[in-house]
Amino acid sequence: MALLHKSFILVFLHICSLSWNAWAKVELTMGESVEVYLGDLAQIPCQYNFSDANKPSLVMIQWFVRAVGNSTRRRIFYGDDSQQMVDDNTDYSGRIEVTSDQQGTLLTVQDVRLSDEREFFCQVNGLAAGNAEGKTHLRVFAPPEAPVIEGVLTGISVTNEVPSKVASCEARNGFPKPNITWYRNSMPLVSAQGHVNVLTLVTRESNGFYSVQSKLEYKVVKEDKDARFSCEVSFSVPGAIRTAESKGINITIYYPTTMVELWKESPQGLVKEGDTVELRCQGDGNPPPPFIFNREQEPDVDLDSSGDVLVLPGVSRKDSGVYRCHPLDTEPHTEVTGDMQLTVHYLDPAVVVPKDSEVMFKGESLTATCNALSSLKTSTVWYKKGKQVGKGNTLLLRDATYDTTGEYVCEVTVPSLPGLRTSGSVHIIVQGAPQLNDEDREVELEEAAGRLVNLSCEAHGHPLPSISWNIVGSQSWHEVVSKANEHTAHSVVSVKVTSDISALCNASNDMGTEIKAFSIKAIPMVTSAAPFSPAEGSGVIIVVIILCILLLAILGSVLYFLHKKGKIPCGRSGKQEITKEKTTKDDIVVEMKSNTKTEEAVLLKGVNGDKKGPNDQYMELQK
Ligand SMILES: *[C@@H]1O[C@H](CO)[C@@H](O)[C@H](O)[C@H]1NC(C)=O
Ligand SMILES: *[C@@H]1O[C@H](CO)[C@@H](O)[C@H](O)[C@H]1NC(C)=O
Ligand SMILES: *[C@@H]1O[C@H](CO)[C@@H](O)[C@H](O)[C@H]1NC(C)=O
Ligand SMILES: *[C@@H]1O[C@H](CO)[C@@H](O)[C@H](O)[C@H]1NC(C)=O
Repeated sequence: MALLHKSFILVFLHICSLSWNAWAKVELTMGESVEVYLGDLAQIPCQYNFSDANKPSLVMIQWFVRAVGNSTRRRIFYGDDSQQMVDDNTDYSGRIEVTSDQQGTLLTVQDVRLSDEREFFCQVNGLAAGNAEGKTHLRVFAPPEAPVIEGVLTGISVTNEVPSKVASCEARNGFPKPNITWYRNSMPLVSAQGHVNVLTLVTRESNGFYSVQSKLEYKVVKEDKDARFSCEVSFSVPGAIRTAESKGINITIYYPTTMVELWKESPQGLVKEGDTVELRCQGDGNPPPPFIFNREQEPDVDLDSSGDVLVLPGVSRKDSGVYRCHPLDTEPHTEVTGDMQLTVHYLDPAVVVPKDSEVMFKGESLTATCNALSSLKTSTVWYKKGKQVGKGNTLLLRDATYDTTGEYVCEVTVPSLPGLRTSGSVHIIVQGAPQLNDEDREVELEEAAGRLVNLSCEAHGHPLPSISWNIVGSQSWHEVVSKANEHTAHSVVSVKVTSDISALCNASNDMGTEIKAFSIKAIPMVTSAAPFSPAEGSGVIIVVIILCILLLAILGSVLYFLHKKGKIPCGRSGKQEITKEKTTKDDIVVEMKSNTKTEEAVLLKGVNGDKKGPNDQYMELQK
């Protein structure tokens, strides 16, 4: 009952019969329509009024139905004061109920069916008091199921010349016929020639419901790729119009490529030789077309690519240049192309001058250069034994010494592209005469006699010097160390000190000779007394004899002087003899010493009356 809706647009029906006088006395009122949901209860009122002066003794009430568009009608109810009767074998037998009072009658239809959508007639007959008839249209409503939308699954090309099917929508089992409206981004789409066509198919189901199918044909543009399409079903309900919207769908739009971009996907930053380069091409078309890649200088040669990526493995400087891509689906001359410049950087192997190895003379200077061709700015550093010895592509070796000898490595790097580096090297050999490592060219030693002494001699030089020894004063010596490495020779001899020794170390090569001299003074052992040699002994005796003779001579002279003065009166002749003997002895001494010039000279001086004392004369001898 709650769902019962009635139309209260009341119309006064003045039922006029052929005879104005006979019928004028009953006034009957019915609503034009009663609206009700399917399955609900419908109540159709029929009100009548006999004028006071004309109260009938008997009132007969009859209800009839007539299907829409059908002229025949059928009674479904009869009632008067004595009986109430629902006609048998009608659609309403057992489904209706009529209640009446003084003012009117009310027809109640239970469980309303779609077929109840028809006109219901109410006829009131008071015989002599007059009669009247009225009708009400019973309207039945059934909302359709929610609309179901289906977009086309294939893409739609903007190049289609006529509207293409975009989607279909169906609203099933509604009553009365529902309508379908299309929306694009919530704006209704209205049919327009060449742009929007809506094709509607209405089906009357066997059970009486209506199902509506609507097909939207639409001329898509590129912007529709983001548009949402939906359909809405509108349907009547008692007293109102309701709507239900489908979910929104998007559709795939195909549109040609109008712009293409080409860029380097990897590696990041600068490209060097050996890198694997990936170029990617992207256009604004849908679906993304495959792309053709070319080089600018060979526009007719298609490069081997896969889809939108061109892979260049292990590039070299020859791969530098302008690359181009265009979509396969467009003509190459449409100028829908993407360009990019690829620059492959390189660093050639370092070239070192002088090459490999170079011989220098001691004291010479040399400039080595190290150059590596590169597309970028390079930086060069020189190393020797891992230590930095120079910067820049030239290295000046000034005033070469043997320390200058060695391997010089130049390392060339590219600061802006750390992956690029190369190196080269030169081996410098300094050639020259042997050079003794020891500062002292002459070494003086003292060593106890009988001991062993090591004499060491080390010399640089290129070519490698050879060391030889020349040892005077010892028969017992031998070499205990003999080593040589690269440019240094080292020799040690062990010498037995028997007497004073002079040793020469001779280091020599093609360039010259260097000598180191050792002189070793043997120190006599303290325990062993040195025996006099016969020669030395006789020397001392002679000196003693000479001194005695001199003393005798002086004594003789004194005695002779005293005798002349008469101081010694006797024994004169004895004294004379002694003096004579002395003189002869003098002669003999001189003769003996004639073999030693220095001694002879000293003796002669002494004899000739020099005033030197005996001590002085001895000193002279020692010299
Ligand atoms: C359906 O469309 C018709 C024609 O435009 C209109 O007269 C009718 O009222 C509509 N019905 C509903 C339920 O919207
Ligand atoms: C529809 O749109 C959604 C999200 O906006 C997207 O994920 C989907 O791919 C689109 N489908 C089509 C057919 O364009
Ligand atoms: C001399 O050198 C050898 C070898 O190096 C060594 O064995 C020896 O002890 C040395 N002798 C002296 C007296 O230094
Ligand atoms: C040193 O040795 C070289 C070669 O053996 C020789 O020519 C030269 O005369 C020697 N010098 C001396 C001072 O012994």
